[in-house]
Amino acid sequence: MPLTALITGATSTLGEAFARTLSSRDIRLVLTGRREDRLREIAETIPGVTSFIACDLTEDISPLMAHTKGTSIDILINNAGSSRVSKFYQMPEARIEEQMALNILSLTRLCRHFLPPMVERGHGRILNVASIAAFHPFPALSVYAASKAYVLSLSESLSEECRGSGIYITCLCPGGIDTVGQTADTHLDVPEFTQLDAQSVATLGIEAMMKGDAICVPDKTQAVAVAVSQHQPRWLMRRLTGIATRLARGH
Ligand SMILES: NC(=O)c1ccc[n+]([C@@H]2O[C@H](COP(=O)([O-])OP(=O)(O)OC[C@H]3O[C@@H](n4cnc5c(N)ncnc54)[C@H](OP(=O)(O)O)[C@@H]3O)[C@@H](O)[C@H]2O)c1
Repeated sequence: MPLTALITGATSTLGEAFARTLSSRDIRLVLTGRREDRLREIAETIPGVTSFIACDLTEDISPLMAHTKGTSIDILINNAGSSRVSKFYQMPEARIEEQMALNILSLTRLCRHFLPPMVERGHGRILNVASIAAFHPFPALSVYAASKAYVLSLSESLSEECRGSGIYITCLCPGGIDTVGQTADTHLDVPEFTQLDAQSVATLGIEAMMKGDAICVPDKTQAVAVAVSQHQPRWLMRRLTGIATRLARGH
């Protein structure tokens, strides 16, 4: 019986790359994002897409739940996420709440909805997309970094809770990805040579999920930097991310 995966944020560069990677492994796909025309385009070009539904996950997610009723979701890819670059006190409240609703609340709801049937069936995989920002405080990306720290912590807890059940939870923590349509409002301007290719990130993330790894930092240099940073005092990492952010923003 072929496996079925649900991918959120499937209209984005990384979401589409997940779809291509899973499709090449003969996994059936259910896609969601907000732009219906883009979902249709992707469904027409990637083999194995059985259905798609346009849905704003910061609002009511019951249409997505109704759409997947009766379908065994064996793999959940919680990829949809949003970021805003701004000092916290200058960030419109709506932008703060949007990030929390999408990055934290909807991801948690989807885990809560799809995990119980996986446990009942005795198999399943969840890939939660966080960020390398999950490991540190990040001035100018404060809400985003805090939301991704939540995703990392939740994923690690669930991964241990599910140990021995046949369910594997993986948290993917990439650094900056070469993303279509990114702007100075949504992404920090990092040097081009540090930007990761979405397809490689998706492939490494899916491999880690299939192996059952709890955490995947898909770039080797960044993985070493994260490992080293975990042994540094918090004040030092705070100061270093502060300096790096000021340099990236030019003030
Ligand atoms: N880009 C990076 O440098 C980077 C680095 C580390 C981690 N990440 C993480 O990787 C994931 C994908 O990032 P990305 O940069 O590829 O994102 P992106 O290009 O901005 O795309 C975001 C995706 O999420 C969907 N989405 C946004 N708001 C939504 C909402 N309210 N309801 C439902 N879907 C919504 C979008 O759908 P529509 O386009 O149809 O609206 C789109 O498919 C995110 O979790 C992000 O935090 C990104």
